[in-house]
Amino acid sequence: EKGIYPHYMLKEIDEQPFVIRKIVSKYQDGNGDLIIDPNIRNSMKEADRIYLIACGTSYHAGLVGKQLIEKIAEIPVETHIASEFLYNRPILSKNPLFIFISQSGETADSRGVLVAIKQLGYPTLTITNVPGSTLSREANFTLLTHAGPEIAVASTKAYTAQIAVLAILAFDSAHAKGIKQEINPFHELSIAANAMDIMINKKEMMEENVWKYLNASRTCFFIGRSMDYYACLEGALKLKEISYIQAEGFAGGELKHGTIALIEEGTPVIALLTQSHIRGNIRSNVQEVLARGAHVCMISMEGMEEKHDQIVLPAIHEHLTPLVSVIPLQLIAYYAAVYRGCDVDKPRNLAKSVTVE
Ligand code: F6R
Repeated sequence: EKGIYPHYMLKEIDEQPFVIRKIVSKYQDGNGDLIIDPNIRNSMKEADRIYLIACGTSYHAGLVGKQLIEKIAEIPVETHIASEFLYNRPILSKNPLFIFISQSGETADSRGVLVAIKQLGYPTLTITNVPGSTLSREANFTLLTHAGPEIAVASTKAYTAQIAVLAILAFDSAHAKGIKQEINPFHELSIAANAMDIMINKKEMMEENVWKYLNASRTCFFIGRSMDYYACLEGALKLKEISYIQAEGFAGGELKHGTIALIEEGTPVIALLTQSHIRGNIRSNVQEVLARGAHVCMISMEGMEEKHDQIVLPAIHEHLTPLVSVIPLQLIAYYAAVYRGCDVDKPRNLAKSVTVE
């Protein structure tokens, strides 16, 4: 099934543009209009607050989802780690909608929240890759991510598929609420898919950067702000889970509040810049770590790039940038694991679906 690929992870990274195009076709009718179950549309419309519940990589997609739903559909959103929510429940709004994001649809921590929320009688929606999975069956509604089976333990295409579906849901709700749209979501997602292809075709470049930045290191920092911060959290998780390099994603503005103490001569720092409004801020954060000897790999987006940036991503709509910025991060994690001789598809201590609390 891997075909020409040495690992499922690499195959699944490569499949991502195809998956985004598939989602575009699945959620669109012949007239180019959005297809969403009217019951889901109504639940979104009636909700005074949305609670996104997930774990791991799906939680990182949920952080992006919060931005998408708040900015596009103007509904307040909270994103929670399922295992934390379960034992430390926040005060809920009057008419909440709960959305569970889970590739497998079997994650015990997320299911624990679903069971508790159903007892309270609130509406529930599951966004999952697996039709008929437990979380899909037990929630009121389901949206499928159509990513196809994900075999590698490290999640890649499920993450980008979740973000695409969350974007479509946000646009649909905006439409239902009569919020004027300046952009066509399907068009923007198609542009993103093309940009993903471009980055996927630059694998050698990512491989070289791994050699240059991570060859001799036991640690790696990822820095970014706003949307880029969330992509950094995901990039760090990928790197640690498959290459066992200690990696952390940090919000650029937080560096000076402690983390910068960790930077020393040669510390690898991967910096992300895809959001024009924080362009100056992240550039100055990069200067701060460079001044302390960090070895910085700068990933910027066209239109915001500077001459010596190591990786430049094709420009896409700023709400959707994690779809493209995560590709070099996934590939960096992949090659770092390969170089270290790690079992890429089956990292130690991990299981594909975590059905225990
Ligand atoms: C990381 C990874 C995990 C899962 C998490 C949730 O690469 O795969 O962090 O994202 O265990 O799994 P699902 O999405 O199946 O609920």
